[in-house]
Amino acid sequence: MKFDTPATTNPIDQMKVVGKPIPRIDGYLKVTGQAKYAYEWHDASTPYAYGYPVGASIARGRITSMDIAAAEKAPGVLAVVTTLAVGERKKGKFNTAKLFGGDEVQHYHQAIAVVVAETFEQARAAAALVKVDYAEEKGAFDLKEAMKTADKPADSQQPDTSVGDFDAAIGSAAITLDEAYSTPDQSHAMMEPHASIAAWNGDEVTVWTSSQMIDWWRADLATTLDIDKEKIHLMSPFIGGGFGGKLFLRSDAVLAVLGAQAAKRPVKVALPRPFMINNTTHRPATIQRIRIGAERDGKITAIAHESWSGDQPGGQLEAAVAQTRLLYAGANRMTAMRLATLNLPEGNAMRAPGEAPGLMALEIAMDEMAEKLGLDPIEFRILNDTQVDPEKPERPFSHRNLIGCLKLGAETFGWSNRGKPGARREGNWLIGQGVAVAFRNNMMLPSGARVRLDRQGIATVETDMTDIGTGSYTIIAQTAAEMLGLPMDRVAVQLGDSRFPVSAGSGGQFGANSSTSGVYAACVKLREAVAAKLGFNSDDVVFENGEVRSGNRSVPLTEAVGDEGLVGEDTMTWGDLTQTHQQSTFGAHFVEVGVDVATGESRVRRMLAVCAAGRILNPITARSQVIGAMTMGVGGALSEELAVDTRRGFFVNHDLAGYEVAVHADIPHQDVIFMDETDPMSSPMKAKGVGELGLCGVSAAIANAIYNASGVRVRHYPLTLDKLI
Ligand code: MOS
Repeated sequence: MKFDTPATTNPIDQMKVVGKPIPRIDGYLKVTGQAKYAYEWHDASTPYAYGYPVGASIARGRITSMDIAAAEKAPGVLAVVTTLAVGERKKGKFNTAKLFGGDEVQHYHQAIAVVVAETFEQARAAAALVKVDYAEEKGAFDLKEAMKTADKPADSQQPDTSVGDFDAAIGSAAITLDEAYSTPDQSHAMMEPHASIAAWNGDEVTVWTSSQMIDWWRADLATTLDIDKEKIHLMSPFIGGGFGGKLFLRSDAVLAVLGAQAAKRPVKVALPRPFMINNTTHRPATIQRIRIGAERDGKITAIAHESWSGDQPGGQLEAAVAQTRLLYAGANRMTAMRLATLNLPEGNAMRAPGEAPGLMALEIAMDEMAEKLGLDPIEFRILNDTQVDPEKPERPFSHRNLIGCLKLGAETFGWSNRGKPGARREGNWLIGQGVAVAFRNNMMLPSGARVRLDRQGIATVETDMTDIGTGSYTIIAQTAAEMLGLPMDRVAVQLGDSRFPVSAGSGGQFGANSSTSGVYAACVKLREAVAAKLGFNSDDVVFENGEVRSGNRSVPLTEAVGDEGLVGEDTMTWGDLTQTHQQSTFGAHFVEVGVDVATGESRVRRMLAVCAAGRILNPITARSQVIGAMTMGVGGALSEELAVDTRRGFFVNHDLAGYEVAVHADIPHQDVIFMDETDPMSSPMKAKGVGELGLCGVSAAIANAIYNASGVRVRHYPLTLDKLI
């Protein structure tokens, strides 16, 4: 099914199941420990062996020799596979740095060997015996230095945009701002590490892994190891957090497959926590410059956003200017992004890439600009709202209720109690409030599903969609239940298996809307099959209460499908509605903080998010997504930072003691309000992404609240106490 005209009324609009606050159907499995994560597939009759990775101890250069004699002789060791022995390998489509193979070292802790032994402890002990000699080369590790020679990326990433005459407009603007901001390297720091089990059977291999994107991994694993894709069976039904770090194939899967081949045993490989930070991807640091010019009445006439980030040669920009192209009106505008070559570990997508770090800067700049203009920050934003793409005024937003979010949020949060900077004090705490806009684009990816309806009246949905803790199982079941007129307990959902139709996967907040649309399409096919079998006119057929009706005829579904049951399978694809209409999601984040007057310590006291993201498929799972994202925003504002050793070229704080994510004690009461809306341009579900929206803007709202509390404007994240005193 191709979605290329705005959705009209369809069975989802009944909202008997979709839109209801149904607890996660996989919740019981998770809280009772029965949900099997990648490393936990285990049956007593299988002689699993354990692989432990060895990482490069230089950041750039070549391996001249590897001595594995001692490791091979160590107790329990079954095999040692080295990068030199396997030789050069192709890179997968989605990896910038290579994962394994050959003598070149591109970054610190690049995997260079896997030691396989009877037990995990034996593998770990033997891995420490591998001796490696390198010819080390000088690398670039400091973004501030490397940005001087930064350039446009070679490929099709769009680095520059320009509309009107920015230079002239900023030159003649009554009020102007020109400031620099920075965001540090950050790590996904998901709970479950990258982990895989590989088991060969003849020339076929089954890999249980932790992947957001089954088909991308499968294809890249095939390329990297030169295996026929059809010979790889990938399983990832449960994932303990991904945050973008599991979008792309990682070394654990490669090492498990090679280790299992060498040891002739099924092999488990989990990346040790200290290994993950430098072996896998991270969110690259940015240095951003924002210039805004406005008339005295507050109307923006000029806006420019430039961003510098670094990556391995041939790598990715951190698209930090993305939101600035679309968020506020202004006739004269420009954006530019430059990529510096860095020999740090590969940078890539993390927790709303682009908009999340971009809004960390833009929404402080907007707060600063409002102050210069003597306007309330909410008033200033409302004044510069736009209902059309500011770069292409003939292109409207499909639906945009940012103003509604700001107004409802202000009223709910008690924004009118906000005082002047430094004016409100309770004991040792200076109290402040901050606001920032949330913005994240609404992407769609093709998504397939198969739905079987059996003689018992059970519908089983199969798709390779993943659930990274987001609630995919539940919203997919709700979709099928609504479409087929079944209660939730008559629907089973199977995910994360490469034998199922290829889905959108989980990323870029496209998963929920895309994958449920794929299930919708498959259910339409199934409904047609049922109608055809009964000789019903599929236009007036109704699926309700376990029955299928047409005119005055009514047949129980169990009878309708017959002994063999019926199957519907389809893939939702997308027409050009995203070209004719800009599809984005909007929100407003409100934060109250306390800043200790003596120590400069900041504490978040209250948070509210108001989100406008189309139809909310399940208010419980959506709320959980948003409060999780808000929590990440607290980490991003106050503590999360990978410390770069600019001499040796690695991230120093490579564990969860040194890399500080927000913990329960850091998080106050959080409120989330969803605007009651649908977006018929987005899909038959009329839903949009919402998970990443919950993060976008949060850190800036905290920075603005800290300014309001203390009078200190910090433009460089994280906002640690040393920057306040
Ligand atoms: Mo997300 S960072 O696209 O998983």
